Amino acid sequence: MKIIRTVPSMTAWSERLRREGVTIGFVPTMGALHDGHRALIRTSRLRCDALVVSIFVNPAQFSPTEDLSKYPRPIARDRALCREEGVDVCFEPTAGGMYPADFQTIVTVPVIARRWEGAARPHHFAGVATVVTKLFRIVQPHLAWFGQKDYQQAALVRQLVHDLNLGVKIQIRPTVRERDGLAMSSRNVYLSANERRMAPLLSQALRVGRRMIADRVRDVAAIEQAMRQPLKREPTIHVEYLAVCDPDGLEPLPVVATHAVLLGAVQIGSVRLIDNMLVRIPS
Ligand code: PAJ
Repeated sequence: MKIIRTVPSMTAWSERLRREGVTIGFVPTMGALHDGHRALIRTSRLRCDALVVSIFVNPAQFSPTEDLSKYPRPIARDRALCREEGVDVCFEPTAGGMYPADFQTIVTVPVIARRWEGAARPHHFAGVATVVTKLFRIVQPHLAWFGQKDYQQAALVRQLVHDLNLGVKIQIRPTVRERDGLAMSSRNVYLSANERRMAPLLSQALRVGRRMIADRVRDVAAIEQAMRQPLKREPTIHVEYLAVCDPDGLEPLPVVATHAVLLGAVQIGSVRLIDNMLVRIPS
C-alpha cells in the first residue's frame, strides 16, 4: 500500500491511472477506523480496480468548542486496517496542504444543511462540503462511498455532486452497529462505561418509531413522543432531536405517507451521538 501525503502527488497518481482506464474508488474518512469504515472499504474494494482511502481530520468541520485536538488519531492501526483490506493508496494530507495560508473558498449547500446537524453545528456542513469537493478534485474518483450513519452528510454530498457536476458516483452503505444496536462511531471511545451502557437507547428509540410506522401509525406527533419514551429512563441523556422526516429533503413530515427517515441526536455527558433509520411504509 502506498502512503501519499501531498496533494500534487495524489492527483498525479490518479491522473495516471485514469489515463490507463482504471476505475478508481474512494472512501474519505477522518481515521480512527472501525468496522463501519471497514464495511465501506470492503464494498468499494469489490467494485473498483484501484481504491483510495483518505485519512484527514478536517479542521474546517469542527467548531472552536469541539474536539479537534482530542479527535483520536491511531494512524498505525488505521494504516494496518487499510493494508488488510487491500487499499491501494492511503491519502494522508496535512492541514497546511489542504488549506494553505491564502485559502478562501467555502462551499455551502444551504437548504440540506439548514436543519438537524446543521442547526446544532453551524459551520460543520460548510467544512464537510468544502473538504469533500477538494478531495474529489484531488483524488478524482469514479465512485465514492459514504455511510448512512451520517444521513444528512450523505444527502449533502449527493446534492453537492449534482449541483457542481463533480462527476463522482456516490454510493451509500447501511450503518454498521455494535451487537447492542449502538451505531459504530469514532466518538464512541469517549463514552465512560456508564455512558456506554446508556448509548444504545438512541437506536432503541429509533426502533420504536420504525415499529410504529410498520404498524401503520401515521400521526407524527404520537411517533415522536413514543420515541422519546426509552430515553426518559435515563435523565442524564439530553435529547437534541428525534424527528420523522422526508428522506430526500430532510424536512419534518406532517404525516407519514410512503417512506420516511427517523433522525436522532442525543447528548450523553460530553459526547454527542447521532443515528437514523430509514422506513418504507408497507402498502
Ligand atoms: P468519518 O466520521 O471518519 O466517516 C467516514 C465515513 O464512514 C462516512 O461516510 C461515515 O458516514 C462512514 N461511517 C461512520 N460510521 C459508520 C457506521 N457505523 N456504519 C457505516 N458507515 C459509517 O464522515 C466523515 O468522516 C467526514 O465528515 C468526511 C466525509 C471524511 C469529511 O471530512
